[in-house]
Amino acid sequence: MTSEKRRPIIAGNWKMNTTPEEGAALAESVLNQSMQLPDLDMVVCPPFTGLHAVAERLTGSSVSLGAQDMHWESDGAYTGAISAKMLLTLGCRHVILGHSERRTIFGESDDHVNRKIHQALTTGLLPIVCVGESLDERESRRTEQVVTVQIRAALSGISEGQMEGLVLAYEPIWAIGTGRVATPEQANSVHHHIRSLVEAQFGAHVSSAIRIQYGGSVKPDNAHELLSQPDIDGALIGGASLEADSFIAIAQAAVS
Ligand code: PGA
Repeated sequence: MTSEKRRPIIAGNWKMNTTPEEGAALAESVLNQSMQLPDLDMVVCPPFTGLHAVAERLTGSSVSLGAQDMHWESDGAYTGAISAKMLLTLGCRHVILGHSERRTIFGESDDHVNRKIHQALTTGLLPIVCVGESLDERESRRTEQVVTVQIRAALSGISEGQMEGLVLAYEPIWAIGTGRVATPEQANSVHHHIRSLVEAQFGAHVSSAIRIQYGGSVKPDNAHELLSQPDIDGALIGGASLEADSFIAIAQAAVS
């Protein structure tokens, strides 16, 4: 679709792991090793409770801070929820939205995801929007259909200007935390499809610029193959982001 070079973006989703102290130490190790990697964007996403401690370590560095979720309202009676403004004041630049664990375990709908994206963009956070099919959906050849519905719903009502800085992540559910990874061809073909959906809604200018990450059991030994695919612009990494060495090795694969 395009040969325009997009800057890779590597994000670590720490999920429900690390205390503030552990998170600060992990961020510090990532930071120390990230100095040799100027040609990509790096993001770490600790749990809410670790954001402050990690932000202190990252201040002034090129590694950005992200959160793993947020609420779609700006404030109010939403026990247990966190707003976009709270994340911004802690120094977050990114927020992961629509992760499959949020969708399947916490019952988040496409409508919730869409509302969250609107709120993030209005407030000034850059969303990393996740989509992906289950094993059953893949085996019954519904991958493109499922991803199409998720992308259309997620990006409903978003303007062309708001797409700048928004990142998409294709994460097949069957590959998350399972050690089972999509082949580079399987992944690239869905990425290509997602890019065509973005083109249909926003035009070639936006679709050639938007970055689409792959997520699902990305490890140092499979990263290069995946990240060298033409439509794969980075990775969203769970398990392998909990060790600075493996996170950095994946980042290196993105620019090698
Ligand atoms: P994983 O998780 O790398 O552990 O498979 C990826 C994700 O859920 O973002």
